[in-house]
Amino acid sequence: MAAFLSAACVPSAFGGLSLFGAEILTIDTALVSNFSAYVPAQLRFTQPTIQFQSATFCNVTVSYTHPGQDDNIIVETWLPVENPIWNDRLLAVGGSGWTAGRGALSYETMKGALGDGYATTTTDAGLGSAQDSTEWALTSPGNVNWNNFNNFLYVSLNDQAIISKALVNSFYGKGPDFSYWNGCSQGGRQGMMLAQRYPTAYDGISAGSPVIYLTRTAPSIYWPQEVMNMLDIHPYGCEMDAISAAATAACDGLDGVVDGIVSDPDACLASFNPFKLIGTPVPNCRQAANRTVQIGTAAAVVVNATWHGIVTAKGASTWYGVPPGADISNEGDGAFVLPGVAATDCSSGTCVGKLNYLPLNWMTHFVHRGDPNFNLAKMTYEGFDDVVHFGRQIYGSALDTDDPDLSRFRDAGGKMVTFHGLVMSALLPDVHNFYRHYELPGLGHCFGRVSGQPSSLFDQLRAWVENGTTPEKTPVDVTVLDGSLAHRIACPYPQTAKFNKKGCRDPADADCWSCTAACGKS
Ligand SMILES: *[C@@H]1O[C@H](CO)[C@@H](O)[C@H](O)[C@H]1NC(C)=O
Ligand SMILES: *[C@@H]1O[C@H](CO)[C@@H](O)[C@H](O)[C@H]1NC(C)=O
Ligand SMILES: *[C@@H]1O[C@H](CO)[C@@H](O)[C@H](O)[C@H]1NC(C)=O
Ligand SMILES: *[C@@H]1O[C@H](CO)[C@@H](O)[C@H](O)[C@H]1NC(C)=O
Ligand SMILES: *[C@@H]1O[C@H](CO)[C@@H](O)[C@H](O)[C@H]1NC(C)=O
Repeated sequence: MAAFLSAACVPSAFGGLSLFGAEILTIDTALVSNFSAYVPAQLRFTQPTIQFQSATFCNVTVSYTHPGQDDNIIVETWLPVENPIWNDRLLAVGGSGWTAGRGALSYETMKGALGDGYATTTTDAGLGSAQDSTEWALTSPGNVNWNNFNNFLYVSLNDQAIISKALVNSFYGKGPDFSYWNGCSQGGRQGMMLAQRYPTAYDGISAGSPVIYLTRTAPSIYWPQEVMNMLDIHPYGCEMDAISAAATAACDGLDGVVDGIVSDPDACLASFNPFKLIGTPVPNCRQAANRTVQIGTAAAVVVNATWHGIVTAKGASTWYGVPPGADISNEGDGAFVLPGVAATDCSSGTCVGKLNYLPLNWMTHFVHRGDPNFNLAKMTYEGFDDVVHFGRQIYGSALDTDDPDLSRFRDAGGKMVTFHGLVMSALLPDVHNFYRHYELPGLGHCFGRVSGQPSSLFDQLRAWVENGTTPEKTPVDVTVLDGSLAHRIACPYPQTAKFNKKGCRDPADADCWSCTAACGKS
């Protein structure tokens, strides 16, 4: 079989490929052998850490265009040949930030899938290898490249599913028994978009930290920076860290267990007052040459605004903030970890805002269409309100994935799991029969901070799709205050994990926790 498949790894084996609305330009193949990888769970979101050696697979790279649209899209698909052999399934991976895929993170998730025996695929949506939208957002200053934008937002997603399934079919002589999506953040948004716009593309979708309301999330990430600019206050990160740490300490026990994790951020927001900390010394401030500084009024104002979320110039609260205890001031690592929403850079001696390129690109390239007269640092309060309003007006229908009518996905037999923040109240009454969402207190954006990954969730999704076994809870390990690892569970929303099993004393024992319905919710 392996010799047969190796011999089939040639462009002519995929000659029948076609896609309505597209013209296939090239098909390249390469047999890759002796391929080894180690992929940590963080880069697979809902799958465990994996290490494997000496895999052989066929790397098929298809480029195509939508005639008349001047685009060139690349779908890269890896088809297992040997060690491991194909598991009869397809796993498509998503992108991150302003990329659709074919970036460093996508390749890591693909390597993990390959090691498990999946045929796996990624698309660049025609955006090339750029990390941000500078190179593809505009056809010229003032003119958004809608073909590129639509390819990124949704068109490429269905193209990728059709092309990769056809490649699988040509190579193995049969299509995948089941097809899955695994993405986080931008990849999570893509997963939500697939469920809403292409409900038959995948049987199972794992969508982590999905950006559902991108037109509102993007300005909300910038909101703390706008507050700092408007008031001309840029506190040290260490002051904001000290406030976050105090909030964590004060709110930690609200869920019944003191473990360094705030499980009920709403209760924390209601009860914790950052302004009471003004004047508290912060020793060894990392941005202030290790001097002791004091928590200033500016830091309390910025943290308060960050937690409460967007308020308009007329005083209306319009979007959520970041929960108390979240890391809002880290300066990023220049790679997978982006700067926190309220990050400042104090390396010159004077602190200035440290911007995350995601909202920056959104406001400059799309809402303001590359206008050289738009000066972000001088944006007024009304100007910010306009960014929020017109961003949603003009682009909402193309990129927000907030349609609660998932009936077509349900009727096609689809199953979906998501984790991180989401409001589900408007969804279908029987939503729990095909869609489960898990809140993971202590997890950063997609990965990081004190929570491990929900690394069994993907296999639970598979069992749900393939065997009808519903994921009632999912295990997750967290690092608690003394640095030890505790085994916990995450529960499908709106249930929460409670430490309440009879006769149980050890909060590090997952069996001592159970999922209980929150009061007043069902
Ligand atoms: C396979 O790769 C490893 C390193 O990843 C290398 O040491 C080994 O020589 C390679 N084997 C063959 C047969 O190429
Ligand atoms: C697969 O082929 C594409 C196109 O040649 C190339 O860019 C990519 O690096 C290859 N991937 C691997 C894992 O060899
Ligand atoms: C502060 O102290 C840490 C740990 O000793 C050191 O790594 C860092 O360089 C110091 N920072 C400054 C700005 O001096
Ligand atoms: C904290 O922020 C909220 C929401 O913007 C605002 O209503 C409140 O006045 C702020 N608190 C203080 C003390 O400024
Ligand atoms: C489905 O059930 C069968 C029989 O119990 C089992 O062998 C298989 O591993 C299950 N598949 C999944 C994805 O859980």
